[in-house]
Amino acid sequence: MGKRVSLTQYLVEQQRMHGHIPGQLRLLIEVVARACKRIAISVNKGALGDVLGSAGTENVQGEVQKKLDVICNEVLIEANEWGGHLAAMASEEMDGIYLVPNRFPQGEYLLLFDPLDGSSNIDVNVSIGTIFSVLKKPEGHTGVSEGDFLQPGHQQAAAGYCIYGPQTTLVLTVGDGVAMFTLDREQGSWVLTQDGVKIPEDTKEFAINMSNMRHWAPPVKRYIDECLAGKEGPRGKDFNMRWVASMVADVHRILTRGGIFMYPWDKREPEKPGKLRLMYEANPMGFIVEQAGGAATNGLQRVLDLQPGKLHERVSVILGSKNEVERVTSYHVDAAG
Ligand code: AHG
Ligand code: MN
Ligand code: MN
Repeated sequence: MGKRVSLTQYLVEQQRMHGHIPGQLRLLIEVVARACKRIAISVNKGALGDVLGSAGTENVQGEVQKKLDVICNEVLIEANEWGGHLAAMASEEMDGIYLVPNRFPQGEYLLLFDPLDGSSNIDVNVSIGTIFSVLKKPEGHTGVSEGDFLQPGHQQAAAGYCIYGPQTTLVLTVGDGVAMFTLDREQGSWVLTQDGVKIPEDTKEFAINMSNMRHWAPPVKRYIDECLAGKEGPRGKDFNMRWVASMVADVHRILTRGGIFMYPWDKREPEKPGKLRLMYEANPMGFIVEQAGGAATNGLQRVLDLQPGKLHERVSVILGSKNEVERVTSYHVDAAG
């Protein structure tokens, strides 16, 4: 085995070579990574740690919170509020933004997170994760407001996720490709296990919740019908399907061996643009996927170019292998006339 590179060493070397990881951003990433280690320990304890089941509360989106949703949110806040690298945080599990308390120094960055992605999989022992997105606080005024967070995804300074699965893996981009770090439990450290991650441009694997088929818009139905037609159909090849119901796990598979992931708008709640949230699910995943050579759109536009109107805004998501995402997007463009 070659020399082991830790997360700290990776970040220091990135800074030396490219000069694009300022001190505060490095601290932020290290603190988030440390919080993910704590979360991994809780996740692993499961029933022994009394972390399974419902918390008996609802979040702003009307979803019942699991105990782990609440625990992970608290771990991330506690880890991040004192370091002086942040001005404020926002999370799936909090209605409004969380300002860094006055007793701590204020930093330049804004952190958004989905503390626990794949909540329906916690109790059934299937992979779950944490997703995060980092923005710079706009300059020119003191204080922080929700409006400061409403920046398009292409302005993210960094994004990442941690997947708690058979292995615990941290996946990170600071805008210079995608790196993966595996948690060495004995040492308690993150070890670089893959750099320059690349998503194959073509794929024969799709991920979508097929139970919603009757609610889909025609372009999505057309794409999936063509996949299902297999060798005899217009695509001339057989497709495989996977749906974990944890976006982190589906995206992780796509980063590893290619594929397309879709959670499109559907007719169940026609007034909502989709199920997933733009600022702490679609944007960070879109940034990572693009940095790995893939693509991410809402059917018509690049996800990273969407101007958010509110913190918990929802969005239709199509991401993964570039040629497939472009195909689905072109079906939407055709249908829109
Ligand atoms: P969260 O647990 O953070 O609310 O996110 C769950 C999301 C996403 O991870 C996954 O792709 C999707 O919900 C699954 O939805 P269905 O249960 O409708 O398939
Ligand atoms: Mn989620
Ligand atoms: Mn969540």
